Amino acid sequence: MTASTPPVPVLEVDDLRVRFRARRGHVPAVDGVSFSLTPGEILGVVGESGCGKSTLCSALTRLLPDNAEVTGSIRYRGEELLTKTAAEMRALRGREITMVLQNPMTAMDPLFTVGSQFDEVLRHNSAMSASERGARALEMLRLVHIPSPAERLASYPHQMSGGMKQRMLTAMATALKPGLLLADEPTTALDVTIQEQILRLLAEIRASLGTAIILVTHDLGIVRRLADRMVIMYAGRAVETGETEAVFTDPQHPYTRALLASIPRIGQTNRRLTAIDGQIPDLANLPPGCAFAPRCPQAMPRCAEDYPPSFDTGPDRTACCWLHDTPRKDAAA
Ligand SMILES: Nc1ncnc2c1ncn2[C@@H]1O[C@H](COP(=O)(O)OP(=O)(O)O)[C@@H](O)[C@H]1O
Ligand code: SF4
Ligand SMILES: [Mg+2]
Repeated sequence: MTASTPPVPVLEVDDLRVRFRARRGHVPAVDGVSFSLTPGEILGVVGESGCGKSTLCSALTRLLPDNAEVTGSIRYRGEELLTKTAAEMRALRGREITMVLQNPMTAMDPLFTVGSQFDEVLRHNSAMSASERGARALEMLRLVHIPSPAERLASYPHQMSGGMKQRMLTAMATALKPGLLLADEPTTALDVTIQEQILRLLAEIRASLGTAIILVTHDLGIVRRLADRMVIMYAGRAVETGETEAVFTDPQHPYTRALLASIPRIGQTNRRLTAIDGQIPDLANLPPGCAFAPRCPQAMPRCAEDYPPSFDTGPDRTACCWLHDTPRKDAAA
């Protein structure tokens, strides 16, 4: 491969839409989201609660509830996921596309040892022999820095702290070297020092296994440190996408600017997003134009009427905002 060959994406999401049929109406929880991910890349997905981050993850793994309608395209290593059978998806979820979720407490069965649960995962999803599975479990526990791994595997979930469980679940999720790991707010239920360790662990896993990671969080500090690229979601849309440092230093969407302005200063303990004026809109009753218009300091008359498309704002950067609807320079000639 020459330096100019772009890396083959592990995931390509194109115009993905998820609409829930709900009593309050149709909820467009994911509204035309497109992005791609190369092997070993970490993509941060940020946005306030209710903007569609978890729905996006469920769509990528085809784990949406029955009241969801999905359109668009999700290609994993070039293969379309939306047309795969349930059995094909189960096989993919077992080893290629795995997940670490928010609450480690409920993710393990209290009645079985951790080791037997780890072994089940490997037995179901691989052709490894019993001794290979045992060796792999120990290897993974070492990789995620769990001390006395053999003893740990013989223990029960309640004998582990929340942070230890999340390490264990991360080890299980990555034991078969998946191409893609979805981490949906994996540290929200943990205290700050443990959060730090889990995040460092994700970075190590990407480095040692080459796994691409989608990291959903509302902590922008985390994204800046870990993510190569980021997607900012608002009301189901990817309102801004780009390389992380570029987005932080030169945000192109007013919502991104509001988010960045809401980051508390270093030293404050609560780093969640709290300080943007106004409410997120009701997705079942969105305005016809830009969903951010009621809160946007730069809103123009057309913003309330016309739905802003995604504009290319630079190399590998997009923003859904009418401020970028400048006439092309060559158009005047
Ligand atoms: N099963 C469902 N039925 C109807 N609406 C849903 C369902 N799941 C989520 N939603 C709605 O979809 C929107 C996005 O939710 P979610 O993806 O959980 O956001 P986030 O993870 O960013 O907080 C919300 O308005 C939520 O109420
Ligand atoms: S389209 Fe208009 S309202 Fe929406 S973010 Fe841009 S300037 Fe603000
Ligand atoms: Mg969520």
